[in-house]
Amino acid sequence: MKYGHFDDKNREYVITNPQTPYPWINYLGNEDFFSLTSNTGGGYTFYKDAKFRRLTRYRYNNVPIDDGGKYFYIKDGDVTWSPGWKPMKTRLDSYECRHGMSYTKFNSAKNGVEAQILQFIPLGFWGEIQKVSLKNTASETKKLKLFSFIEWCLWNAEDDMTNFQRNFSTGEVEIEDSTIYHKTEFKERRNHYAFYSVNAPIDGYDTDRESFLGLYNGFDNPDVVNQGTPKNTEAHGWSPIASHYIEVELQPGESRDFIFMLGYVEVDKDDKWERKAVINKKPAKAMMAKYNTVEKIDTAYDDLHTYWDRLLGKINIESSDDRLDRMVNIWNQYQCMVTFNMSRSASFFESGIGRGMGFRDSNQDLIGFVHQIPERARERIFDIASTQFEDGSCYHQYQPLTKKGNSAIGGDFNDDPLWLILSTTEYIKETGDFSLLDEMVPFDNDASRAKPHFDHLKASFYHVVNNLGPHGLPLIGRADWNDCLNLNCFSDDPNESFQTTGNKKGKTAESLMIAGLFVVYGKEYVKLCKRIGKDTEAKEAEKHVKAMIEAVKKDGWDGDWYLRAYDYYGKKIGSNENEEGKIFIESQGWCSMAEIGKKEGMVEKSLNAVKEHLDCEYGIVLNSPAFTKYYIEYGEISTYPAGYKENGGIFCHNNPWIMIGETLLGRGDQAYGYYTKIAPSFLEDISELHKVEPYVYCQMIAGKEAFKPGEAKNSWLSGTASWNFFAITQYILGVKTDYDGLVIDPCIPSKWDGFKMSREFRGATYKIEVQNPDHVSKGVKRILVNGKEIPSNTVPILEKGKAHSVQVIMG
Ligand code: BGC
Ligand code: NOJ
Repeated sequence: MKYGHFDDKNREYVITNPQTPYPWINYLGNEDFFSLTSNTGGGYTFYKDAKFRRLTRYRYNNVPIDDGGKYFYIKDGDVTWSPGWKPMKTRLDSYECRHGMSYTKFNSAKNGVEAQILQFIPLGFWGEIQKVSLKNTASETKKLKLFSFIEWCLWNAEDDMTNFQRNFSTGEVEIEDSTIYHKTEFKERRNHYAFYSVNAPIDGYDTDRESFLGLYNGFDNPDVVNQGTPKNTEAHGWSPIASHYIEVELQPGESRDFIFMLGYVEVDKDDKWERKAVINKKPAKAMMAKYNTVEKIDTAYDDLHTYWDRLLGKINIESSDDRLDRMVNIWNQYQCMVTFNMSRSASFFESGIGRGMGFRDSNQDLIGFVHQIPERARERIFDIASTQFEDGSCYHQYQPLTKKGNSAIGGDFNDDPLWLILSTTEYIKETGDFSLLDEMVPFDNDASRAKPHFDHLKASFYHVVNNLGPHGLPLIGRADWNDCLNLNCFSDDPNESFQTTGNKKGKTAESLMIAGLFVVYGKEYVKLCKRIGKDTEAKEAEKHVKAMIEAVKKDGWDGDWYLRAYDYYGKKIGSNENEEGKIFIESQGWCSMAEIGKKEGMVEKSLNAVKEHLDCEYGIVLNSPAFTKYYIEYGEISTYPAGYKENGGIFCHNNPWIMIGETLLGRGDQAYGYYTKIAPSFLEDISELHKVEPYVYCQMIAGKEAFKPGEAKNSWLSGTASWNFFAITQYILGVKTDYDGLVIDPCIPSKWDGFKMSREFRGATYKIEVQNPDHVSKGVKRILVNGKEIPSNTVPILEKGKAHSVQVIMG
């Protein structure tokens, strides 16, 4: 069953039934200022950091779900309705929510009134615009009462929902003209405030939540709206809100537009006050003046479109399947921008207060984003590298506002450092900019300990070399990519966190996943060293990579697949000998990508075993059989019910590793088959089972051993976005960036006749047309660049500012 449809021309998903199986959301904002907005108007806004600078309040885990947001109430006679359906939930004559590229639109109608709301954040602006247009389509005059509503968060989102003894006494607002200013804590340590304005005279307002709603009422039953008259309240403590009241008279056929703005302002410490107790409103007024007419809004909205045209224009494909085209051309790239911006901080599954930017997460997010805005990728690489230590270890997470490592979580996730080699080399391959290797980048955010960025890569590489276990395989530390494989944790205390507890400081638990990862990015490190003339270092590093390959062959192979790990006691994990968890996806993915033992048939056997034991109708599960009891020596992985999350769930993030492995074997039908099982646009028809948005990837789909296979959770913020983009564009469609050009090596379903890709690369546009006359999956017979055959399948760097034709004949 579907709840809407794709509108590819406008790059929108159009939801036509507000009662989606879960809130289906969108992100507004691209740089510093962000909003999350659901298909019923729920959501919230923050500046840079969803924990420390939360503008509006949101209650996760609420009943009913997704209550609280940017709400409008239209009172038309006895009937009150909301254009986003919620909060009033009045039956609408029509409803449409269009989630587009950094904007959301609602088009709704009731009893001869049409309402359109356009929500977006202009580029470079610290404010959300809500353009509300009301039109009278009836034959009589309409006297409408329009109420807006938002609820302020007292800045620190965690404190806001825990520290009521203080917070119920601190709230402060100011009201001037049509603007409500939120200034809680401004008089002491904060140099920032927020405001909610409208570009029209208002007929009243409210700023105290209890007065507006009534103490015992929900958002769907507000006293003030019921009575039809505002109370003009000024909040003192409790829960400050901002609600405007406007009387709108519309003749038949007449329409009116209102521009609401939710803004954030920072002022200089010495310039905080206009006069005693009155905040300096100058910057806020300048923001309002910038967007106070429909023309100005339209221009800003056009600019946003142009911005996305440009970003999405960089990679564009034409295949025989719309579902693939819309993933590659629109939604997957869009999601990569969102994961780049948010890491794992704020979604409808991540509360914005738990996790900041992840070291491994943000590095991986870059590979789906670097082609869009390389300059921002460069800056991000330095931010991440700055949270590393000289020995290569690093903080697992950092806060976006301070960019400082998060000491509550600490480090020792031994896969973390290697991902820096991935992001850095992918950045250079995309841009050709080797200069970042020479930039001075601090260790542990301490400028006096800065070293060239290259030294960070070296430290990353040797962190593995210096932390090997009894079999010469990498020690796992607290966990590797799989946060839940906590082999040194040994916790039987429910009050301990699996991620931060290490009851056994082990030097025995080893990871085959890190081993494969090390071989892949170790080789990349060697290749990079050679490029930049560090031959001695390249030779030295090569020895370690070779040793790792040998170690995996000797002690990492189980006969039909790669082992997953050795536990603290030196026992095998992911072996046929085990009763549960006989085979795991991560080591099959990474050791296959590393092509360890390919000649001996190991890769083929491993991927066949994945097919046989891990693949199911909805994707590839993480491990099988899933654990049915708690193994203290394995940690969190065995706490999840079978079939969910890291215990036998389809963890979509790692499925593309197998797809990539398949392409290295040339099995295009299989690789693409896996792709289509988890790509959201291919799941649109089963939306009622899948539950989450059909336009973005989710972290996990319940696996074959779950209670409800196919049901998904945790959409949006997952490494799934960048890895699937990487796998489909660079390995299946096979247009891979490299230091000297674009390597073309597609691995596609044999029944395809070909496809087209337009790819911007180093300032030129490559118009690639792949033909597959012999219906093979892999193999390039000839490549013609601007009509001339080239000797290899690396298309060189071509003249900037021009479009070049690249004709590829497979066979
Ligand atoms: C989850 C992981 C997640 C980790 C973050 C675990 O409970 O299962 O997916 O990465 O928490 O701390
Ligand atoms: C989600 C985390 O953000 C990511 O870092 C981790 O690799 C996966 N969970 C798997 O545990």
